[in-house]
Amino acid sequence: MVSSFLLPLSFLLLFLLPLAAAAATDSAVAAATDSAAAQFNFLSLLKKSFKGPSMARWDFNRFNDLDSRANYSYCNLPGLGCDSAGDVVLIDLSSWFLAGDFPAGVCSALPALRALRLGYNEIRNGFPGDLTDCSFLEELNLTHARITGGVPDLSPLRSSLLALDLSNNYFTGEFPVAALANLSLLEYVNFNENPGFEVWKLPEAIAGFTNLKVLILSTTSMRGKIPPWIGNMTSLTDLELSGNFLVGNIPATLGRLQKLQLLELYYNKLTGEIPHELGNLTSLIDIDMSDNHLVGSIPASLCGIPGLQVLQVYTNNLTGEIPQVLGNSSALTILSIYGNKLTGELPVDLGRYSNLIVLEVSENLLSGPLPRYVCAQRQLLYILVVRNNFSGELPASYGECNSLLRFRVNDNNLSGRVPESLFGLPHASIIDLGFNSFEGIIAKSIGNSKNLTALFLPNNKISGVLPPEIGLATSLVKIDLSNNLLSGPIPAELGHLTLLNQLSLQGNKFDSSIPESLSSLKSLNVLNLSNNHLTGKIPDSLCELLPNSLDFSNNQLSGPIPFPLIKQGLIDGVAGNPLLCLPFHVNLTDPVFTLCPRRNFRRRLNNMWIVGVSAILAIFVVLLLVKRWLGKKSVLMKQDAFSSSSSFSYDITSFHKLSFEQHEIVESLIEKNIIGHGGSGTVYKIELSNGEWVAVKKLWSRKTKDPVTAKEEQQGSLDRELRTEVETLGSIRHKNIVKLYCCFSGVDSKLLVYEYMPNGNLWDALHQGKSLLEWNTRHKIALGIAQGIAYLHHDLLFPIVHRDIKSSNILLDADFEPKVADFGIAKVLQAGGNRETSTTVIAGTYGYLAPEYAYSFKATTKCDVYSFGVVLMELVTGKKPVEAEFGENRDIIHWVSSKMSTKECIDEVLDKQLAWNPLKEEMIQFLRIAIRCTYSNPSLRPTMNEVIQLLTEAHPCKPDANGPPFKLVEPRHRKG
Ligand SMILES: *[C@@H]1O[C@H](CO)[C@@H](O)[C@H](O)[C@H]1NC(C)=O
Ligand SMILES: *[C@@H]1O[C@H](CO)[C@@H](O)[C@H](O)[C@H]1NC(C)=O
Ligand SMILES: *[C@@H]1O[C@H](CO)[C@@H](O)[C@H](O)[C@H]1NC(C)=O
Repeated sequence: MVSSFLLPLSFLLLFLLPLAAAAATDSAVAAATDSAAAQFNFLSLLKKSFKGPSMARWDFNRFNDLDSRANYSYCNLPGLGCDSAGDVVLIDLSSWFLAGDFPAGVCSALPALRALRLGYNEIRNGFPGDLTDCSFLEELNLTHARITGGVPDLSPLRSSLLALDLSNNYFTGEFPVAALANLSLLEYVNFNENPGFEVWKLPEAIAGFTNLKVLILSTTSMRGKIPPWIGNMTSLTDLELSGNFLVGNIPATLGRLQKLQLLELYYNKLTGEIPHELGNLTSLIDIDMSDNHLVGSIPASLCGIPGLQVLQVYTNNLTGEIPQVLGNSSALTILSIYGNKLTGELPVDLGRYSNLIVLEVSENLLSGPLPRYVCAQRQLLYILVVRNNFSGELPASYGECNSLLRFRVNDNNLSGRVPESLFGLPHASIIDLGFNSFEGIIAKSIGNSKNLTALFLPNNKISGVLPPEIGLATSLVKIDLSNNLLSGPIPAELGHLTLLNQLSLQGNKFDSSIPESLSSLKSLNVLNLSNNHLTGKIPDSLCELLPNSLDFSNNQLSGPIPFPLIKQGLIDGVAGNPLLCLPFHVNLTDPVFTLCPRRNFRRRLNNMWIVGVSAILAIFVVLLLVKRWLGKKSVLMKQDAFSSSSSFSYDITSFHKLSFEQHEIVESLIEKNIIGHGGSGTVYKIELSNGEWVAVKKLWSRKTKDPVTAKEEQQGSLDRELRTEVETLGSIRHKNIVKLYCCFSGVDSKLLVYEYMPNGNLWDALHQGKSLLEWNTRHKIALGIAQGIAYLHHDLLFPIVHRDIKSSNILLDADFEPKVADFGIAKVLQAGGNRETSTTVIAGTYGYLAPEYAYSFKATTKCDVYSFGVVLMELVTGKKPVEAEFGENRDIIHWVSSKMSTKECIDEVLDKQLAWNPLKEEMIQFLRIAIRCTYSNPSLRPTMNEVIQLLTEAHPCKPDANGPPFKLVEPRHRKG
């Protein structure tokens, strides 16, 4: 019975076994399919919530049938990598420019995940919290991901994580010290540029990390001392602690880091001496301890490290001599030690055996000769040895250093002849030899200096004639040859230098007449020809220019003083020319001039009637002129409109010579002349009787008894803005600053009369695009704006911060020369300089506003630099500062910086309309400069003068087309 029962059972078993086996295979398939489905589902979710055009590269339509899912076809998608089992181990969406939430559940859906790279995207809603559940995660890269909020406890990743890159985010709250202390497998840590963390100290536990090679904690609000136990971390190759609040000494134990190649400690508050044990860092390539309070000398042991390429210790209090051993180096490329109290001589052989790129030793107490071999390898870009006690001659070899961009040896005791070839350096943008005892001539080769923007030779003993070839150096913006022994004529060819802003030739022996051609220098701000032997008449045409500062005094000029000079009260500028005379009588106590002889009237005057009439006329004219003259002398002193019989009761304050009468303006304030309405008033475009155009802004004045306080306040701020605008603009003149001719104040309105800008503002020209702005035009606009702002920041007694630089405040004249306008919220900085001084009123425009504004409310010149950077980006990309395409909360700066970080994407940022442009490389260099201008750390932004240099040097044909690799102007904070 049993057996008869068994038989069918065994039969059944026999029959079922294959089935069971089949079922087992099936469930394996099912499990695998489940895992594939889970991974697939997560990826779909990711695609949905982390959005951007690049996500189109994930085409899921191909995976709709189960088969292809089971075959893990998604492993072939871009940005993904799988292991042999078909599990996702790598997600790399770096620089896909996605934005949105990173979905939860990544670790359960992709349990094999080992590397997650999401840099250069925008991860919203904070740090993706559940990433810490991924137990196999070895690499987490969230650089430049705009993450806000805190960093979670990463300790759960302690048994897997090798590389952690959280640099350049907006983290706040506590630094994850404890988590860091637990991640003992780490080889790479980067928290660079997260200044929002609360202050913290390095945890001692990491001293035991035996694998850690790279530790980057710059600009993370770290405080305290550099702990001596850091010397136990002997696997380190890269240690970066710059931009923090570190105090105390640099520990000698650092010398134990035998593998260290890069040591960055700049921008801290470190004190004490540089330990000579650092000389034990035999692998060191690059060290930067600049901007601290270090004392003592630079250890010879450090300078003797054979592979050391970069040595930067500028702005400290270092003393003693520069070790001679530096001259033996075959590696040194950058020596930047300016702003210390170093003494002695530079090593004789400096640069002889290495590819020296930057020699920057300015502002020390160095003496002796300049080293002759610095350019031996023909790579040198900068020689900057300003304000030392160097003596002797310039080595002839400097004249052969064709790679040079800047040559500044001013304020030393140098003497001898200037090598003639020095004047013809093909790439140099600055040559500054001022305040030395140089002799010799200015060579004809100056005509080859096509990139020279500044030629400074003041207070030397340069003699001979100024060669006419100088007219070929057409990039020149500033020439200062004052107080030398130059003689002969002032060359008429100077008139070809259309960019010239400053011409200072005073204190020489020039003995020609003043060339008429100078009147074609439309950009001229400073013209000083005083203390020479100039003869002849003052050209009338020149006086039409009326530069901001004009000085012809102490010469032998003769003839009548031109009318415009008298009218504008500039008569001081012609004092000490005894042969000059007044064309009519003006009551002057000082200087004294005689009345010109009246050539057209015979001496023999028996007709007293003519004398009487002309006397009356003269008195009348003189009265008017004296009045005008007083008005000019005290520029802001109000003055009654001289025609009191006029029916218009306006006070007039004029700043430039006026070629119109008040009534002309007032009568033209009619509907048909309106070209715009602004927040503060109406703008008219008016044609004057002489055919010129002006723009008139009409502002309503505050009614003195207006009871509505709110309105009054608003009106009050309007008045304040008006006053600021008038006071600021009235006192300055520059070709790239809009001209305010005058201001009429009436009982119920005020009129501001500006030069008219036929091409409107830059915003409209770029973004409302009626016609395309070519790159050449944009190039000119960029440089012009930079020059205008640089003038405000650097050329005035008290720097002016504009505070509202934006493309709509840049106006374009008929030749598309840009003019900075709207000084309504500008601020004059008081004595004491640029860096520390600031203003405290919030102002500016969203999209152009420097980030430090958000937490400091301080406006410095560096805020203008930032805004300029944004305008520069607009010029190159054609984009607005904020566009939907950049993603929410993202602006042009993030967009540009992230695209620029990958080579393939660079082309995408350039304005498509200029895509065919042969000067693409130049556009890219402009963008690099713009990026520097918009660094979040203001102290890393260049000054406007530096910006001009950078823009001028950004020439596509330069050998160093990608810019020098040194950190002088490059960011010293790690770039992402
Ligand atoms: C993180 O990603 C960025 C952008 O792709 C890359 O430049 C950087 O080297 C990565 N960091 C690490 C540690 O690999
Ligand atoms: C550093 O190393 C020294 C000696 O090698 C040891 O005594 C000290 O405890 C270590 N410090 C830390 C914090 O690990
Ligand atoms: C540096 O090396 C010298 C020998 O060259 C040695 O005497 C000294 O102790 C070392 N210092 C450190 C901090 O390693």
